Amino acid sequence: MDSTASPDAPIRIESFLGEGKGRSLAEDVREGLTRSFKELPPKHFYDTRGAELFERICELPEYYPTRAERAILDEFAGELVAITGAEEVVELGAGAATKTRVLLDALHATGVPARYVPMDVTESMVRELATELTETYPGMQVHGVIGDFERHLEYLPPSEGKRLVVFLGGTIGNFAPAPRREFLGKIAGLLQSGDHLLMGVDLVKDPEVLRAAYDDAQGVTAEFNRNLLHVLNRELDADFDPSDFDHVAVFDAEQEWIEMRLRSRRAHTVTVGALGMGVHFGAGEEMRTEISAKFTQARVTADLAASGLDLVRWLTDPEDRFALTLSRRSDA
Ligand code: AVJ
Repeated sequence: MDSTASPDAPIRIESFLGEGKGRSLAEDVREGLTRSFKELPPKHFYDTRGAELFERICELPEYYPTRAERAILDEFAGELVAITGAEEVVELGAGAATKTRVLLDALHATGVPARYVPMDVTESMVRELATELTETYPGMQVHGVIGDFERHLEYLPPSEGKRLVVFLGGTIGNFAPAPRREFLGKIAGLLQSGDHLLMGVDLVKDPEVLRAAYDDAQGVTAEFNRNLLHVLNRELDADFDPSDFDHVAVFDAEQEWIEMRLRSRRAHTVTVGALGMGVHFGAGEEMRTEISAKFTQARVTADLAASGLDLVRWLTDPEDRFALTLSRRSDA
């Protein structure tokens, strides 16, 4: 573990990226690109450039989830802080924490000496956040954790007060149904009696609205999708030419999820130098890079229940596009 800390400083940062069990990029590539239907998990989008592209996506006219979730937080942040009595906020996949600030504002306003524990894989994001937030909120402790929430949850610091775990943006939608419940079960393991989980979920709606949110007119999402290839080139000495691939976004009405794919424009073989591996793509062959599941209240309630969590509040934006769920352990 790398650690930067001094006893009285409001900032502490730890990095676990090199540690723990679970698969690395190399393993994901070795496994995902040798399947008959090629697939890579979406967490590898987020190098510094990918994280910046995602921030731009959040401002696109077609990408409504960020604005809808923010509208819910604007309306209910005070109530959420009051109901939960939170003394610390642990955020999974914090990113730039733009929306979380609405919650932290409300928490700071109560005068409770709070702690914020952002976890993210993008090191630059965690470091910038820690500096910024300790300036914005004098008296708040920030304990940044650089890590992958799928692999490093167990390294989160022990709780120091009533805990609110937040998992925003609808990122839970990146999990397929079975791993989703397994992951929610692990989150439940971070909670004790009196603690809560605040989780954002995108809702099922008009497929055309959904598709457009993942295939914007300016092509920012396409760039974000292709950024994965830049990551593979840099990290694994691969020789992808991103312009050989088209961005594809489709709504699977049966599964109720959006799929992003990269479609090879021509038949060609890519070399992944670090793995000594050649990967053939047929003309028009598609590689899946993300699923983003869309929910109904019934589906979320069932997923939470199967993971040992009870829904306490269901909050939506005025247009019913997105929901924030507040839940707690069923046995607490
Ligand atoms: C960060 C996973 C919530 O699924 O909407 C945005 C990522 N992908 N546009 C989502 C994303 C394409 C986003 N999450």
